[in-house]
Amino acid sequence: MQADFWHAMWQSGQVGFHQPDINAFLKDYWPMLGLEGSEEVLVPLCGKTLDMLWLAQQGHDILGVELSQKALDEFLAENQLTAQPVAHHAFCGYELNKMTLLCGDFFDLSPEQCTHIAAVYDRAALVALPSKMRQRYAQHLINILPSHAQILLVNVEYGDDPNMGPPFCVPEAEVFELFGHAFKIEVLAQSLGQRKGMKALEKVFLLKRNS
Ligand SMILES: C[S@@+](CC[C@H](N)C(=O)[O-])C[C@H]1O[C@@H](n2cnc3c(N)ncnc32)[C@H](O)[C@@H]1O
Repeated sequence: MQADFWHAMWQSGQVGFHQPDINAFLKDYWPMLGLEGSEEVLVPLCGKTLDMLWLAQQGHDILGVELSQKALDEFLAENQLTAQPVAHHAFCGYELNKMTLLCGDFFDLSPEQCTHIAAVYDRAALVALPSKMRQRYAQHLINILPSHAQILLVNVEYGDDPNMGPPFCVPEAEVFELFGHAFKIEVLAQSLGQRKGMKALEKVFLLKRNS
């Protein structure tokens, strides 16, 4: 998906992917990462997800990355948060209590900006991207993350048209193809729901670095 597509979605308020509640999989399965709570967590393609607030409430420092300035402004306004504007190599954004929210292209995020990342929370990030971009996204994550970083990935499989999206259908086999050379992958849970009027299977994966 090109940047213009996402900017248009945010401008027109077509953000049906945004959840009004904390993601249930996050609450149920985040403890499986076995973190102390004070670690830094990367939330790529973060939108204005409330899940960042929940993660911060657990004690984590959050690094959110989002193309749309409007998404970040709505996140702050809707949650009555005040923040300082910042500029970090290729990104503008905001600094606030326990959070750095970078506005820019995830693919510009550097390993130096991720030195302290212990975990990644991906909900509706991988599945927001078409096939070629998913390959680039997975490889970029692998390149920028420290060697101990884990990933909690909430994925969705639905329909039989691989070009329909976002969200795109990302089969379990593709998750293994994209990340299996760098991570040990475990399916933690799955649940049946609906996407675009079709049956959809949401799956939660825990990715731990191969040692
Ligand atoms: C489907 S939404 C998911 C947002 C969030 N993860 C959630 O669960 O609500 C995908 C988000 O990724 C952002 N995005 C798309 N491509 C991006 C990129 N290359 N860099 C940063 N953000 C991007 C879009 O603006 C959009 O807000």
